[in-house]
Amino acid sequence: MQRLGLLACVAVIGLIAYAPDADAQRRDRGTVVFTQAAPQQTRAVVFAATAPAAAGTLVLPLGAAGDLEARAAALSADERAAVTRALAAAEFSYGARQSLSLRGIGGWNRIVIVGLGETTSMAVLQNIGAVLGRMLMEENGAVVVAATGLSAEQAAELATGMGIGEYRSDFYRTSGREETELGGATIVTETPAQAQDLYASRGRALVGAMAWVRDLSNEPANVVYPESFVQRAQAAFRGVEGVQIQVLNVPAMQRLGMGAILGVGRGSERPPRMLIVRYRGQGAPEGGPIVLAGKGITFDSGGISIKPAENMGDMKMDMSGAASVVGAVLALSRSRAPVNVVAIAALAENMPDGAAIRPGDVLTAMNGKTIEVINTDAEGRLVLADALSYAEARLSPEAVVDVATLTGAVRGALGDDYAGLFSRHDALADQLEAAGEAVGEPLWRLPLHESYAEDMRSTIADLRNTGGSGAGAGTGAHFIGEFVSRETPWAHIDIANMAYGAANDWKPAGSAGFGVRLLERFVRDYQPVPRGEPEN
Ligand code: BES
Ligand code: ZN
Ligand code: MN
Repeated sequence: MQRLGLLACVAVIGLIAYAPDADAQRRDRGTVVFTQAAPQQTRAVVFAATAPAAAGTLVLPLGAAGDLEARAAALSADERAAVTRALAAAEFSYGARQSLSLRGIGGWNRIVIVGLGETTSMAVLQNIGAVLGRMLMEENGAVVVAATGLSAEQAAELATGMGIGEYRSDFYRTSGREETELGGATIVTETPAQAQDLYASRGRALVGAMAWVRDLSNEPANVVYPESFVQRAQAAFRGVEGVQIQVLNVPAMQRLGMGAILGVGRGSERPPRMLIVRYRGQGAPEGGPIVLAGKGITFDSGGISIKPAENMGDMKMDMSGAASVVGAVLALSRSRAPVNVVAIAALAENMPDGAAIRPGDVLTAMNGKTIEVINTDAEGRLVLADALSYAEARLSPEAVVDVATLTGAVRGALGDDYAGLFSRHDALADQLEAAGEAVGEPLWRLPLHESYAEDMRSTIADLRNTGGSGAGAGTGAHFIGEFVSRETPWAHIDIANMAYGAANDWKPAGSAGFGVRLLERFVRDYQPVPRGEPEN
């Protein structure tokens, strides 16, 4: 009888621990949003060999005074003379991104001249497109871009940039939103079919993925939390070929021993999730996937080591790394790239409540390493510890790259000019740097000094989650590196300084979508890095 009672008791405890919906029971209590995000508009893009009749806005990209000649098919002799006079009067320099807006010329509402500078770099052309896209957002009606004389690649890049620049983040503004009716954009080029192919096969997917990622970072944390992040990913990939999505809920993570991410998620009403998106395109190389892991803290209050109030709201963007890795796979899969890649989004909300982890608590990550939590605000490395352990144990990765808004310290080191790059494998670091250079998302490599191991040593566990040294970005990187074997080519990218910020000439205030273009380029161009003892 006693034995039976004991058995029943064990059974009940088992049920509580493994009830399939244990985390669904922690229900949302009143954080319902009654507001509805306004839909985004984008211009439909077509490429054509000749310009439509003068109407709406004409864009003239010019690298030098002589270029007006090459673009002139779109202009009458009178219009061309007027533009020439205006350029001289404004002392237009033709430098990249310089712009001049003219009204009252011929049949056009507006003629926008944009400088190309001397460069033909694709990244700069795309950025010029983004500046244009942003400028033209308040413009009703159609847009004609006179791109004759530019290559098909350049025309497609300009169009891609325009799509990226059209983004707006004022989802919840109910007044002061000008009611524009964005017309179509016609890009005039000698090679319309080629440009159209390039745009349709890659540019359009990048535009969509960038907007998807920026939405996630800009949306408030009462809208984007681990489960809703997952739902948005599922919706975005619906119908995309070659994609497999797996979601680990709390019981699944418990079974795998993911004590680190579960620890971070404990203080929140919104349960954590591990989202795994696999994409294998036709013609992908043999062997394991490139794994991209992202920090997905949907809100970082700091937890019990709570942050000061000033700018705490910006911490709704602390899932930007996760959004970027999933966004890169979205861009690659929608454009059917011949690659083998997996995105892992380590999703949790870092909140202080009675169940939250405390400073001093010890957590055990999936790879068995124990972690003394010194500061609950150093939570990104904790969720990544389990994401990387999972990658190593389950995915046989060719290479692992993690992306995270990890430390304020990276801004102290690099300002907002470069994201921080850390790696033990030179051949991997070089490829990431090259990709960043190519797309205009630059990385600067910082050291993984051996002294960081000492900084991160705990007296009671294998590791502690903050270091004593001043190299805050480096000790964070070192910590993450403890969860992937030394032989696996691995790199860590700290984007805390790049992911989110003030408005500029190509984006509104908020997310920059940093990392999508970088990772997309990197994965496409990837050359196998030999496994084995690292260079440093
Ligand atoms: N999410 C923050 C890092 C951050 C700070 C991103 C500012 C963007 C802007 C991260 O979780 C954090 O709190 N890091 C701490 C680490 C420290 C406790 C070792 C930091 O940077 O202060
Ligand atoms: Zn954080
Ligand atoms: Mn934090």
